[in-house]
Amino acid sequence: MKLSFDTSDTPEEIVRAASGEGSLTYRQRPFESECFENRTFEVLDWDTRDFAALFNAFLSTVQLATGDLVYLRLPADAIAAIKAAEEAGFYFIESSIVPFIKLRNWDRAKYRRFISPMQPACPSTIDEVEEIARATFRGLRFNLDPNIGDERADRRYLRWLRNAYEAGEDIQVLKHHERIAGFSLLRFDSNDTAIYRLAGMRPDLKNAGLGMMLYASTMASCQDRGVKHIDGGISMANTPVLNVMAGLGFLFRDPTIVFHYYVR
Ligand SMILES: CC(C)(COP(=O)(O)OP(=O)(O)OC[C@H]1O[C@@H](n2cnc3c(N)ncnc32)[C@H](O)[C@@H]1OP(=O)(O)O)[C@@H](O)C(=O)NCCC(=O)NCCS
Repeated sequence: MKLSFDTSDTPEEIVRAASGEGSLTYRQRPFESECFENRTFEVLDWDTRDFAALFNAFLSTVQLATGDLVYLRLPADAIAAIKAAEEAGFYFIESSIVPFIKLRNWDRAKYRRFISPMQPACPSTIDEVEEIARATFRGLRFNLDPNIGDERADRRYLRWLRNAYEAGEDIQVLKHHERIAGFSLLRFDSNDTAIYRLAGMRPDLKNAGLGMMLYASTMASCQDRGVKHIDGGISMANTPVLNVMAGLGFLFRDPTIVFHYYVR
């Protein structure tokens, strides 16, 4: 059974249990390791029921030290795997879900009052985008882990955002009375699909209809450039965003749970 899904193309290393009966796949995460000043690993999969033995084999291979972090993502209904991970010392961080929509089915006319032109972030606006993003990070997974803490988590997300900007990923801003009200960060994976990676609203402008405007305008701009599907990933605790997305016609799939293991 495949216990975790993975969309990254970073190389994997494989460690085998001492019994030789199974294997656990994992990879080191150099980007997180650098931002957190530790070694961060992601466990990707394992192929026997004996997680404890495989995880012990992993621990003796990598020799974790204080401050190191291991994480894994499991389907929300993989009860036996969740129990095994908790018994090994992993703790719950967040549950998340993938919103998706086929834009050809999107009834754009219904939302036209929310659609407004967006502009690409540029050198004169990226600092303001980062300032808005900081408020958004508070709900994200590394900030939720008190063992990481806001300082290290913010550093990670800010670098990630800055890297995305410098790599030419699409950051669109929505303006309101000459100020930036919010932004959307998307990655276009192929000609057809956009991955909605992050969105944020200026906190003092909430509850005025601008959130709907941000998401509807982002969808319209995707449709205008020929995108056929939008996909993403969002915490199930983030009911404001889930409501906005549901209100605009998104559906949801692949509920998963993220667990962390931290060495004190
Ligand atoms: C979600 C967000 C965009 C809403 O912005 P907003 O300007 O307050 O939203 P709007 O005024 O347009 O409200 C739109 C809908 O959002 C939902 N909503 C807003 N606040 C909510 C809350 N506190 N709880 C539940 N739903 C809420 C409601 O369905 C609302 O529609 P309604 O007023 O008809 O009931 C904004 O809160 C935000 O940016 N949050 C942080 C984004 C984030 O978490 N990003 C990371 C994951 S991508």
